Amino acid sequence: MSKKAFIFDLDGVVVDTAKFHFVAWQRLAASLDINFTEVENEQLKGVSRVRSLEKILAWGGKTIDAATFDSKLIEKNQEYLEMVETLTQTDILPGVHEFLLRLRSSGQPIALGSASKNARPILKKLGIYDLFDAIVDGTDVTKAKPDPEVFIKACQLLDMPAQNAIVFEDSIAGVQAANNAGMISIGLGDPENLKEADAVFSSFTEMPADYQEQLLKKVKK
Ligand code: BG6
Ligand code: MG
Repeated sequence: MSKKAFIFDLDGVVVDTAKFHFVAWQRLAASLDINFTEVENEQLKGVSRVRSLEKILAWGGKTIDAATFDSKLIEKNQEYLEMVETLTQTDILPGVHEFLLRLRSSGQPIALGSASKNARPILKKLGIYDLFDAIVDGTDVTKAKPDPEVFIKACQLLDMPAQNAIVFEDSIAGVQAANNAGMISIGLGDPENLKEADAVFSSFTEMPADYQEQLLKKVKK
């Protein structure tokens, strides 16, 4: 059977943590008197912690000194991690666990490709760390999505060529990163937001029963 590299983003694809990032960024923005809604939040999905704060400050037309910048990021991450503490296996997004188990049973290579520096502890907390053959997260990359570095590194670890990779993403930046690497991009979320993806589903449960087999034959247009 042919093989593809199956690469998964974490936040908003594997686990329902995108909502925690949103709440924590919204609190941070409010503390700086900056308006921040789901519309701006969409632009932060897939974006690193540092770059996210830079964007929020630019939207609000604010500048802060380096020490305040660092302390705001620490505060944001602490709030985020408090919410992460409440995670259980039930927060794995619908159909993902089954999808991963099926890939494993058919011997397909699986990687995580996330901007988050919290990815490894979150996967361990959810009990799915061992389902991934390779993990590339925010501690392993220097260039943020839409740069394809994270996904290219994942392919290297899996020893698979980029043109044989399929990336699952909920963010605009992540879909662009996959496209920039010449990988097949599968969006999870709103088709309007993710219109650059090769295909979009609202969740893994919406995919046809034979979708993994279809993906094995799929060629990037
Ligand atoms: C991405 C999220 O996966 O990771 C972003 O979509 C988040 O919202 C980024 O800011 C960095 O995550 P962390 O956990 O390192 O702050
Ligand atoms: Mg995401």
